[in-house]
Amino acid sequence: MRESKPNFVFPFPFMLFITHWFLLAFHGSAAESSTYIVHMDKSLFPSVFTTHHDWFESIIDSTKSGTLGHSSIQPQKLVYSYSQAMYGFSTVLTSEELEAVKNSHGFVAAYPDRGGTIDTTHTFQFLSLDSSSGLWHASNFGEDVIVGVIDTGVWPESKSFRDDGMTKKIPSKWKGTCQEGQDFNTSMCNFKLIGARYFNQGVIAANSKVRISMNSARDTYGHGTHTSSTVGGNYVSGASYFGYAKGVARGIAPRARLAMYKVIWEEGLYASDVLAGMDRAIADGVDVISISMGFDGVPLYEDPIAISSFAAMEKGVVVSSSAGNGGPDLGTLHNGIPWLLTVAAGTIDRTFGSLVLGNGQTIIGWTLFPANAIVENLPLIYNKNTSACNSVKALSKVAMEGIILCDLVSDPKIVIKQRRFVKKASLSGAVFISDQPLVNEGYARYPSIVISAKDAQTVIMYAKSHRKPTASIKFQETFVGIKSAPAVADYSSRGPSPSYPWVLKPDIMAPGSNVLAAYTPHTPAAEIGDNVLLPSDYNLLSGTSMACPHASGVAALLKGAHPEWSAAAIRSALVTTASPLDNTQNPIRDYGYPSQYASPLAMGAGQIDPNKALDPGLIYDATPQDYVNLLCALNYTQKQILTITRSGSYNCAKPSFDLNYPSFIALYSNKTRSVVHKFKRTVTNVGHGPAIYRAKVTEPKGSVVTVSPETLSFRYKNEKRSYDVLIKYRKYKKENISYGDLVWIEDGGTHTVRSPIVVAPRGIV
Ligand SMILES: *[C@@H]1O[C@H](CO)[C@@H](O)[C@H](O)[C@H]1NC(C)=O
Ligand SMILES: *[C@@H]1O[C@H](CO)[C@@H](O)[C@H](O)[C@H]1NC(C)=O
Ligand SMILES: *[C@@H]1O[C@H](CO)[C@@H](O)[C@H](O)[C@H]1NC(C)=O
Ligand SMILES: *[C@@H]1O[C@H](CO)[C@@H](O)[C@H](O)[C@H]1NC(C)=O
Ligand SMILES: *[C@@H]1O[C@H](CO)[C@@H](O)[C@H](O)[C@H]1NC(C)=O
Repeated sequence: MRESKPNFVFPFPFMLFITHWFLLAFHGSAAESSTYIVHMDKSLFPSVFTTHHDWFESIIDSTKSGTLGHSSIQPQKLVYSYSQAMYGFSTVLTSEELEAVKNSHGFVAAYPDRGGTIDTTHTFQFLSLDSSSGLWHASNFGEDVIVGVIDTGVWPESKSFRDDGMTKKIPSKWKGTCQEGQDFNTSMCNFKLIGARYFNQGVIAANSKVRISMNSARDTYGHGTHTSSTVGGNYVSGASYFGYAKGVARGIAPRARLAMYKVIWEEGLYASDVLAGMDRAIADGVDVISISMGFDGVPLYEDPIAISSFAAMEKGVVVSSSAGNGGPDLGTLHNGIPWLLTVAAGTIDRTFGSLVLGNGQTIIGWTLFPANAIVENLPLIYNKNTSACNSVKALSKVAMEGIILCDLVSDPKIVIKQRRFVKKASLSGAVFISDQPLVNEGYARYPSIVISAKDAQTVIMYAKSHRKPTASIKFQETFVGIKSAPAVADYSSRGPSPSYPWVLKPDIMAPGSNVLAAYTPHTPAAEIGDNVLLPSDYNLLSGTSMACPHASGVAALLKGAHPEWSAAAIRSALVTTASPLDNTQNPIRDYGYPSQYASPLAMGAGQIDPNKALDPGLIYDATPQDYVNLLCALNYTQKQILTITRSGSYNCAKPSFDLNYPSFIALYSNKTRSVVHKFKRTVTNVGHGPAIYRAKVTEPKGSVVTVSPETLSFRYKNEKRSYDVLIKYRKYKKENISYGDLVWIEDGGTHTVRSPIVVAPRGIV
């Protein structure tokens, strides 16, 4: 077999730069082998076999005997057999063997194993917990909810996975285990971390010579430790990132049980391993699956997350996923799958460090220099020559011992360059001026701070008006309540969903920038100068990877509070209660387009609001057949549908693009000047009793929206009512995206049920 390697492996020690693993997919010549994922028809299971595993092995045996000689070096075998997340297997095949498999009885579909994308941004080191309200305190839910995390493994010794305060009774439905492996034994699981398994047969099949560097569920990357502690880590006091963001770390659902399914390896990330992890998580009995990764540019019937999350949804398991870090361009998201939750990333109201001027004025800025450097009462050097900070030579001319104030630059890359020059010029410290959010990301390797252009006016005025201006930079300080927040992070991937543009994705936004959570202590988390590497038990990371587990934690709390709710009901509660406003009560901004407000294609319905989601008033539910109706409308073949549904118990009698979804997107072709879209929705009253709701619409520019009826009266709890929405769009000026919303407001009550509306040209997908 040809040796296949990831294009990109971990460049130790700075693995954090890795954002993508492109591990492809080896379209070799006839004699070359690749791993294939093969879907089979469960209803055609031959009764001569006792298990599906036996059946799949016999298929492989028979194809092998037909093509002897090509692959006689080592016996062909199953990489995995799958029975929950999908029905079928993965195996290494030559193209001739693949043809033989395709002719087997019960064959549905086959495609090559493929690589996915992990959703931590290239900008790293950040912080923060969801500090926006008392959500954690509002509910003690999460007890006995099991969250399965599909990720890079876990660092079991982290304090976040201790089980003090956890009850000793694991729910009886739990069927998982704590799998032994390298540096990992069964005593590493407890009443918090109740399960840990690992899946790397796909990595090995893709490259038989590969050496797995940590052959167990132990995390060597930090990503899985971070995401799982964000979902459900225990309370840990005194957690911080080198003194920043100090406080009691805890997961969103601090009493939830966690189970880790390691499918992402330093040696690669493969669909076959992801399917195996999802398959086991569903079989083990998890309530929520948190998956911070995705597969770009694949149709639903070949997307391992779409396929496996359909099976999860059927069982009432909520799958919460990350939108990806491909923003801010439109149409970049992955996991835009109608039956799961797709989460965008936002900023939080927290910053670090300050600049104190000689006259006593304090300016809050941004620094993550990982130590308490003493930069006190030093001369503040301001040189009007704006290029002073742009070269070491220029700097050494103007500068002596002191803190240099570098002029405003708009390109964040220049600030990064300036940082390097300032360091080389051996100054004691530097103040950079920038309004670009990117500058705020990443720690500083030497003492410096970033301040805004507005605050810089004060500093420049002070520097000019004093003969001997001085300043101090304060490190290891944390400030909360910073305005305005949240904003959509620039890196957060945008809708519409390439794989299914007729549902509005992402669904919601959650904190993703500068999230503090547990980390692997052997992986450097900061650097001073060029060669001092510093580890940390807690780290600040940014990405939709960090946003997703916040939503997964809230979903776990909702599952605990409303065990009877379907996955669609939980998603509906999250969407209709999300906030489109920031902490200044203005529309949430988009850091990808700093002058603009964020559209629902960037943030879905807005910032997740857990307390409100507990009591949404109305919900939009959906059945598995409703989702199948979408697949039918896509004109998928019967076999393509079967790869997702696994069984023929669904039908295509009512194909429809219109799902009972808590949001609306009307796509128009750029050939037509006007378009009419009709949507039908059914809401269930989950409030406390009788209620009357009235519709209030904010029309997207260029559209007329009609809701009928405009009033919904419910006589009792769980009663359903239906209504129609008609969106008439007349193209105005150039093609553009416009958005508004429909809010159902309870008469004399507390509930408001909001659905974003987007009208967009089809061409942007
Ligand atoms: C598991 O490993 C830990 C640490 O190496 C050790 O202290 C413990 O005794 C081991 N437990 C078992 C059951 O092997
Ligand atoms: C500003 O600095 C640049 C780079 O060192 C230098 O070439 C230029 O002469 C300086 N201009 C002034 C007005 O000092
Ligand atoms: C599906 O097929 C029907 C009938 O041929 C056609 O009208 C429709 O546009 C097709 N839909 C898609 C999404 O291709
Ligand atoms: C689309 O709308 C945005 C915001 O309203 C605007 O900035 C942009 O210029 C518009 N684009 C076009 C092509 O009209
Ligand atoms: C219409 O959309 C198609 C892609 O869907 C694009 O290729 C074409 O350029 C667009 N036409 C105009 C006039 O924008």
